[in-house]
Amino acid sequence: MAAPRIRYVCQACGAAGPKWAGRCDSCGAWNTIVEETVEARPGPAPRGAKTRLELVGLGGSAAPPPRRVTGIAELDRVLGGGLVPASAVLVGGDPGIGKSTLLLQAAAALAKAGGRAVYVTGEEAVEQVRMRAQRLGLSEAPLSLAATINLREITATLEATSNLDLVVIDSIQTMWLDGLDSAPGTVAQVRACSFELIRAAKARGFSLALVGHVTKDGAIAGPRVLEHMVDAVLYFEGDRGHQFRILRAVKNRFGATDEIGVFEMTDRGLAEVPNPSALFLAERRGNVSGSAVFAGLEGTRPVLVEVQALLAPNPGGSPRRSVIGWDGGRLAMLLAVLETRCGLRLAGSDVYLNVAGGLRVTEPAADLAVAAALASAAADRPTNPGAVYFGEVGLSGEVRQVAQAEARLKEAAKLGFDRACLPRRVARGRAPLAAPDGLELDEIGHLSDLVARFADGERTAIRATTA
Ligand code: TYD
Ligand code: MG
Repeated sequence: MAAPRIRYVCQACGAAGPKWAGRCDSCGAWNTIVEETVEARPGPAPRGAKTRLELVGLGGSAAPPPRRVTGIAELDRVLGGGLVPASAVLVGGDPGIGKSTLLLQAAAALAKAGGRAVYVTGEEAVEQVRMRAQRLGLSEAPLSLAATINLREITATLEATSNLDLVVIDSIQTMWLDGLDSAPGTVAQVRACSFELIRAAKARGFSLALVGHVTKDGAIAGPRVLEHMVDAVLYFEGDRGHQFRILRAVKNRFGATDEIGVFEMTDRGLAEVPNPSALFLAERRGNVSGSAVFAGLEGTRPVLVEVQALLAPNPGGSPRRSVIGWDGGRLAMLLAVLETRCGLRLAGSDVYLNVAGGLRVTEPAADLAVAAALASAAADRPTNPGAVYFGEVGLSGEVRQVAQAEARLKEAAKLGFDRACLPRRVARGRAPLAAPDGLELDEIGHLSDLVARFADGERTAIRATTA
């Protein structure tokens, strides 16, 4: 019998090597390499005749996959219209963000609607889950519940259960497959357990939802090693200090990937937020300087958020730049453009930038709103409270077109805004922008035009439009 081989596997990215190192060569993470034993197992010789593959063409009848809606509309939209049978979805996120709550609610909703759902927890006791279900008002749902970490028990149970629609495994890091030397949560265990579960899902036609924790210290195998094994990867994110939670698809074999679902964590579980803009703007105060509303786009859905900037004098020393909810590098670029191309003096000030509500904005289209917030803070004059901003800013200060202007304008009009500052349209070859009634378009060609307005009083402009 061959001796078991030792190898060293990075718990963050799954790269394996023959020796230990403090830093993974592959992903650069520190202290993530752990010793794992590989059983030298010769594969069983195939029995019988060689089987041949049936090679097929691209044509033929291919109906779109049937969907099973969970009844939680925000989740269904992120999934691309509901759960797909015989597929696996990974729900990742920091501990405590609400993954278990979301999946318990989804499984219970599906069970209530007549589906067959099983929820297996390896993290909590059955009593704990029951207590949570009670608090969420889900005790009546005909959901099947089990608490175990033994994967063989789970697969045996699933084998014996017919007509399954959804199986939730919470979490994949707690599952343990005998025959493997490694502890639960190591890359080897996580991979092997997922493989078994996904195989069962494909064979028996149920939808599998795996919960995966993301930790920074690398003690638990990050769900990243699983991303290529599953059909869809959803990340549940948000700031634990805020009640908003965003479910974001980062991979989806059956739908779009930039879709988001917005939830609010309440004392009775996760509530759907069908109109996030209203919620993100709820606490806005119109008459302070340094605040501008960004008409953003998350997936196919327009979302309005407030961008706040604060400048504080910093005589001497290197000024501080602090950003929450936006990219720090992008802020540095925008500050440089404002200084160099628009003559705004910011080098002697600390700059604080915040996207209110805990949303993380990744779109370059936010440049114009951030610039407006900064220019407003620098001039100590509020922006027009009825205006939204969007547009990308280039290094020479030009304001560039962004995608889906119409959808952004429509959302702004819906929420009662009457003015939109946006990039100047290049007339040639483009259809005129269809602006909703009552929304005035304010085209901005160069960032210095925007800065100049604050310098000589956007107030007059506000008075003119509100009078
Ligand atoms: P949980 O779903 O256990 O997070 P995860 O599975 O991602 O680790 O949710 C944990 C947090 O959510 C916990 O700190 C308490 C909070 N919570 C509420 O605020 N309201 C609720 O109704 C529930 C069930 C949890
Ligand atoms: Mg949990």
